[in-house]
Amino acid sequence: MQLYLAPMEGVVDHQVRDLLSALGGLDGCVTEFIRVTDNLLPRRVFRRYAPELDNQCLTPSGTPVKVQLLGGQPEPVALNAQRAVQAGALALDLNFGCPAKTVNKSDGGACLLRQPERVNAIVAAVRAAVPESISVSAKIRLGFEDTSRYLDNALAVSEAGASELTVHARTKSDGYKPPAYWEYIASIREAVSIPIVANGEIWSPADFERCRAVTGCERFMLGRGLLARPDLARAIRAQVSGEDYTPMAWPEVCQLLHRYYRMSQPHYPTKHNGNRIKQWLMYLQREYPQAATFFEQIKREREPARLEAAFKTAA
Ligand SMILES: Cc1cc2nc3c(=O)[nH]c(=O)nc-3n(C[C@H](O)[C@H](O)[C@H](O)COP(=O)(O)O)c2cc1C
Repeated sequence: MQLYLAPMEGVVDHQVRDLLSALGGLDGCVTEFIRVTDNLLPRRVFRRYAPELDNQCLTPSGTPVKVQLLGGQPEPVALNAQRAVQAGALALDLNFGCPAKTVNKSDGGACLLRQPERVNAIVAAVRAAVPESISVSAKIRLGFEDTSRYLDNALAVSEAGASELTVHARTKSDGYKPPAYWEYIASIREAVSIPIVANGEIWSPADFERCRAVTGCERFMLGRGLLARPDLARAIRAQVSGEDYTPMAWPEVCQLLHRYYRMSQPHYPTKHNGNRIKQWLMYLQREYPQAATFFEQIKREREPARLEAAFKTAA
């Protein structure tokens, strides 16, 4: 069984990957998407999204990281894939799921799911452009407006030579609204020969069990669930192996958040200070009522000294 941390633009940066992978239970991570238009991106862009490139594509605790690209034209995506490999990438992932308007206007992400032949051309171009030793995978939703082409898109990815396919079991129109339609993942798994990673709405070990039963998959990607419950991967593994498990308590979660605050703070201007932890607290509220109280306390706070003091009382 494999458990991956989902890519989340503006949320799961390299520091979050570092903190969550250090907790254990994860087999891999994916960077936020790097948008490709017509230009060849400078190496520094890849390094900014994936500082792990300088550490053999591993988080500090040794979890592999894939570099994700998003673009609508085979040639520029393939050339940038080569550039990512030159910068040190060992595994690439191609994004065909992003619902953001700005992204779809610039012709990338989920809108490509309306044209499976284009999905196929992009994956094939990247596969051909990089050495065999570099793995190329893709991530799709079930469709753009509807699910009519979900199998075509899955086949488009597998026939283009990808080694793995992640399926976020919703269409672009579904956004992030529950439920996730895991039953479609089961049909994809039966129709294609490459490993399928099931994704969407796994918030607890019980959700995981249901998703596993419905999809028949052995690979899973956890997004918002891992932010709401940072030890979710560990808890899932304990459930699978039948071990007793004590969930992470709030003081430990608060320490993790504090570490993130200290790591991220130097990188943001004062007016955005604390925004990243406020964002994480929004996810944590789902599992920890204390997170809601802490959020209320600091929501308008930007002063480093006052935020530091708030952490002392929050734990
Ligand atoms: C804020 C946010 C940013 C996301 N950014 C990306 C991204 O950069 N690349 C990608 O493939 N998916 C992205 N996703 C989708 C997630 O990887 C995942 O497919 C989705 O959240 C469903 O999984 P979950 O229910 O476990 O959260 C994003 C999702 C959210 C909520």
